[in-house]
Amino acid sequence: PETGCLSIIVLGASGDLAKKKTFPALYHLFKQGFLQSHEVHIFGYARTKLSDEGLRDRIRGWESEDLVNFLHLIKYVSGSYDQEEGFVLLDKEISRHESLRNIQVGTSRRLFYLALPPSVYPSVCKMIRSYCMNQSDLGGWTRIVVEKPFGKDLSSAEELSSHLGELFTESQLYRIDHYLGKELVQNLLVLRFANRLFMPLWNRDNIANIQIVFREDFGTEGRGGYFDQYGIIRDIIQNHLLQVFCLVAMEKPVSLKPEYIRDEKVKVLQSVLPIAPEDVVLGQYDGYKDDPTVSQDSNTPTLQVSSCGFITKDGKVKDWLLFYFLLALTKVPFSTGVPFILKAGKALNSRKAEIRVQFKDVPGDILSQSQGRNEFVIRLQPSEAMYMKLTVKKPGLEMSTIQSELDLSYGQRYQGVQIPEAYERLILDTIRGDQQHFVRRDELKAAWEIFTPLLHKIDGGEMKSLPYKPGSRGPAEADELLAKAGYVQTHGYIWIPPTL
Ligand code: BG6
Repeated sequence: PETGCLSIIVLGASGDLAKKKTFPALYHLFKQGFLQSHEVHIFGYARTKLSDEGLRDRIRGWESEDLVNFLHLIKYVSGSYDQEEGFVLLDKEISRHESLRNIQVGTSRRLFYLALPPSVYPSVCKMIRSYCMNQSDLGGWTRIVVEKPFGKDLSSAEELSSHLGELFTESQLYRIDHYLGKELVQNLLVLRFANRLFMPLWNRDNIANIQIVFREDFGTEGRGGYFDQYGIIRDIIQNHLLQVFCLVAMEKPVSLKPEYIRDEKVKVLQSVLPIAPEDVVLGQYDGYKDDPTVSQDSNTPTLQVSSCGFITKDGKVKDWLLFYFLLALTKVPFSTGVPFILKAGKALNSRKAEIRVQFKDVPGDILSQSQGRNEFVIRLQPSEAMYMKLTVKKPGLEMSTIQSELDLSYGQRYQGVQIPEAYERLILDTIRGDQQHFVRRDELKAAWEIFTPLLHKIDGGEMKSLPYKPGSRGPAEADELLAKAGYVQTHGYIWIPPTL
């Protein structure tokens, strides 16, 4: 049932993720009426000794009238992550609250949100399974929300998955990838499958290459210790960018049923061949190792560009797209596929995330001017937008051309519409029991299969990160790889988000 007493338990409540993402998301849901105070209670759990008020003070970053009411819903329980006492106490608190609320309803829903370092997942999950499951005779559920990193490579991820799999069913587990909660990522399905316009174009005959880009204009800032253990591939590419890649590349699902969508995503991932070292550029920005928590001989990449793609395992050319890793390896002629380029970097000259679909040249250029290529760009953030780069006649008496665009900028087109935060939407999905935007176990495995050989090479010191200046475009080799994959830059044209 999706009604009845709801307990949301934030484990790791005194930490950074809880403060920055989980509690604000819960607050926004509360403000919009999705968490009703007559049925909801929020528990914070962590090792730190704190009072209810102490936790409330920590999360009281924002000021608002509703905040006081929201904070009243929150209770704090302190305990360790591997001893039963804390979890027995937590269960007692949840049950007490349930018995107070459940007089009329009877069912109870327990949502455990693990805002914790992955090292404690196994013990915390075991404790929840042993001491904190919903026991109500009248029904309800227990759900567990976990956040990346899910392991460090294929074998550690599988180990974690098997461990969680012994404790919970797949339908109880919600693996969050917050990119799946972004407005324009969610729009991909609609865009691709509800518009006739794109159907005949979205294939290898028309598309020259596709870039999926993540750039940040700041470095690891205070997270160096964590980041150095993982690097940009595990932090961004293997999860966020690969999820976007799936939605761009997958075939049409039978319906919007979460399982059908996830089936299609898995098929895409399973069609990808391992990434070749020569199709990868790694970078590390100067100054990265100044962080005292980063090791002095760290080779951890803060930037990675790789050119990849996929080929269907049966080798058949599908109607729409055939992707592959750069040719040399697969021996597939370059002209039969669409290269995908996944780029992610920190401490660069700009912050943006986008999908850039570049179309092939027009055959037979009667205008005899070198035309820019058409591009369809989905700007995920900031300034959410979709724009299509076109060549048009330059207005005026001369017959000359310029680059322009059809622009659907959300800020302008949907004025006054508040775009929900990714976490807000995803937490609501977990309460509603919709797993569409969560990563399934086989999907996770397939994602690790793609990157594990490459990661092992990097970890083993076989591949070196090139230095780049913070605030720059990254190493020149990254641009060279783009050109090798067939990307043609249109010079002298830049899209500027419209100002309101
Ligand atoms: C997180 C990464 O998952 O995503 C961070 O760990 C990164 O390194 C962040 O900064 C980016 O998220 P967003 O939503 O700001 O693009």
